[in-house]
Amino acid sequence: MDPLGTNKIMAAVLGAALVFMAIRTIPEFLMHHDIPDVPAYSVGPLEVVVDEGGEDLPFPQLSWVSAMDAERGAKVFKKCKSCHNIEAGAPHGTGPNLYSVVKRKSGEAAGFGYSSAMASAGYEWGYEELDGFLEKPSTYMPGTKMNFVGLKKPEDRAAVIEYLRIAAANPVPRPEAAAVPLTQEAENATVEPEGGLQIGVPTEGEAIDGDEDTMRDLEQVEPLGETEDIDQPEPFEAADDEQ
Ligand code: HEC
Repeated sequence: MDPLGTNKIMAAVLGAALVFMAIRTIPEFLMHHDIPDVPAYSVGPLEVVVDEGGEDLPFPQLSWVSAMDAERGAKVFKKCKSCHNIEAGAPHGTGPNLYSVVKRKSGEAAGFGYSSAMASAGYEWGYEELDGFLEKPSTYMPGTKMNFVGLKKPEDRAAVIEYLRIAAANPVPRPEAAAVPLTQEAENATVEPEGGLQIGVPTEGEAIDGDEDTMRDLEQVEPLGETEDIDQPEPFEAADDEQ
């Protein structure tokens, strides 16, 4: 083979290597370029805000009132039945008869021998007191002889309390949902994950830069957000009016 032939072969090999490198590198370069610094959508921080807000909201929240379901309450009451009757005039069991207990003074069922803790507690069994007591009797009222572990789920407590409420000749009215402080209300308006994205995200524009699909989704969601803003506070305002 003559030297010129060898050169041609080397040139061809080198050329192929260059093309190969270019094919590998150029798309990578282009793709890296496309990845935004900030994730296209980030809903994490919003959820955290909502969790924090959930703790010291006034009682009862709308979710609690909505969970007042007597049918479910009847099922939850099976946990109470071993100790409590609830029909008018039925005898006391291990625990006192619970007919008409809502808004009754604590420890006042005639003929039942209460613990001194219960006898001297001096509550009126309002919704908040019942909710607290039923969550964990031994913590809420140290020294009570109601030997019951408690109902962890707020929905269970709301349901069984509704069941207690209607077990009366003249049931007391259902509670009104407490008004949410203004700042909380604004945060809560971002909770509904309708359309897969949190309403309220558009104000945090930096987080969604560069993603056209996300922008389009947000434009669709936004009108929803407006209706919610108008609808949601209504029950709370009604609560204010009537109190
Ligand atoms: C293991 C038995 C037992 C179970 C189960 C039980 N309780 Fe009780 N309950 C008692 C006793 C005993 C008392 C009286 C407590 C005292 O005197 O300290 C009581 C008291 C009460 C009171 C206060 C009544 C009053 O007259 O002041 C309410 C309300 C009540 N129970 C509701 C419930 C509900 C609702 C459940 C089911 C979710 C339940 N209890 C489950 C034994 C029980």
